[in-house]
Amino acid sequence: MMFPSILATSVALLSLAGIGQAIPQQGGGNGGFGGGPQSQSSRVATTATRASTTATEAAVSTSTVACNNSPLLCNRNYNNITHMGAHDAAFLRDSSTSFSISGNQFYNATIALSAGIRLLQAQVHNSSGTLELCHTTCTLLDAGSLEAFLMEIKTWMDANTNEVVTLLLVNSDDESAATFGSVFESSGISTYGYTPTSTTGPISTWPTLQTLITANTRLVTFIASITYDSSYPYLLNEFDYVFETAFGVSSMSGFNCSLSRPTSLSSSTAAISSGYMGLLNHFADTVEVFGISIPDVTDIATTNSADTNTTGALGTQGAECDSEWGTKPTFILVDFWNVGPAIATADQLNGITATGRTSVSTAELTASSSLGVRRDAWGLGAVAGTAIAVVALVNIVWL
Ligand SMILES: *[C@@H]1O[C@H](CO)[C@@H](O)[C@H](O)[C@H]1NC(C)=O
Ligand SMILES: *[C@@H]1O[C@H](CO)[C@@H](O)[C@H](O)[C@H]1NC(C)=O
Ligand SMILES: *[C@@H]1O[C@H](CO)[C@@H](O)[C@H](O)[C@H]1NC(C)=O
Ligand SMILES: *[C@@H]1O[C@H](CO)[C@@H](O)[C@H](O)[C@H]1NC(C)=O
Ligand SMILES: *[C@@H]1O[C@H](CO)[C@@H](O)[C@H](O)[C@H]1NC(C)=O
Repeated sequence: MMFPSILATSVALLSLAGIGQAIPQQGGGNGGFGGGPQSQSSRVATTATRASTTATEAAVSTSTVACNNSPLLCNRNYNNITHMGAHDAAFLRDSSTSFSISGNQFYNATIALSAGIRLLQAQVHNSSGTLELCHTTCTLLDAGSLEAFLMEIKTWMDANTNEVVTLLLVNSDDESAATFGSVFESSGISTYGYTPTSTTGPISTWPTLQTLITANTRLVTFIASITYDSSYPYLLNEFDYVFETAFGVSSMSGFNCSLSRPTSLSSSTAAISSGYMGLLNHFADTVEVFGISIPDVTDIATTNSADTNTTGALGTQGAECDSEWGTKPTFILVDFWNVGPAIATADQLNGITATGRTSVSTAELTASSSLGVRRDAWGLGAVAGTAIAVVALVNIVWL
């Protein structure tokens, strides 16, 4: 009974502290986000490590159009591809958020897609009747409307006609498929929505990318969680098709390939054999107080590394799950996708050398790197101080 007032007070305090715009969400799920602009460019890693497939691709690529950055992926089933994803894709740590320490990505969704990211994850809240991309609550951080986000993605898809994109939306306020569907329609993106043959359960053989591209149903949308509505059959309940490893990991040794959700399934192995697709949550949090989680940027170069023999590296978890599951992960979510670059691990798992990507710096984007002013240290102190204030206040209220 007291919780709402405590939460409201916490929110007010956080807002007063001037860090409201920087608070990341924890809510019931994963977050995802993107970041800012940068004129500097460095290479995007496109190294394939499987020599035999590289040789094959070299022969094919001169005469074949690429699908999701490689001709080798056109005739591969959607679920036999690792789709690299941006966790909390709308929550940016860039100049637009004063380098909010709760931002999960340095670059926005458009830049992410151009750099090869094909899975965008975001948390959706009901803000006074409008679906908004918020962190925990819309009072803390509102990254704009779902409609604007979908319009941004549609604009990119309109211009990139051979690309298949996946969305993973967290339905934080238990909205109906009709509520989501109306925004998918008003944004125009519903035209690309793919409706699978089965809308009730896992599918062991998904169409190839080429099939999705030819039909121009190039958007696969999962929502966690939603009740299926035949009027919006392209809005798929995530956990009917996908299982996930744990999220909210706070140590580099905390990543593994065990099933965390849905709890209705007993194990990763059971999920795989039933036709579920595996999603690796490969991002670490460094602080979590009152639902405020701060992405661990200190270790990000290691976290997003394609190395297969370093504890905590994405390459290591990817290879481990490929081995443990007998099939590669279909989806991977990371924070700060440009660092690593994380997509090198997906390329490794897919056995491709990518083409057609925009180069984005693999460096961390900081206030000092772009403005000559370093704010992140201040930001962390403010969050810690506010968290202490909130704890003190809550103790008073409870006493
Ligand atoms: C994404 O970031 C780029 C680079 O900062 C910027 O030019 C573009 O306007 C941004 N797109 C959106 C939709 O915000
Ligand atoms: C997945 O793709 C790889 C590479 O093309 C292929 O060798 C393998 O047979 C495919 N697996 C399935 C289950 O289709
Ligand atoms: C969304 O919020 C509005 C206003 O706060 C409320 O009237 C509406 O019932 C909410 N929608 C749902 C589905 O909860
Ligand atoms: C897998 O990792 C999660 C998060 O670190 C942890 O809670 C869980 O116990 C681990 N499972 C196993 C079997 O090690
Ligand atoms: C570790 O992995 C990297 C590539 O991921 C490889 O170059 C290196 O040889 C490996 N080292 C060992 C000791 O296996």
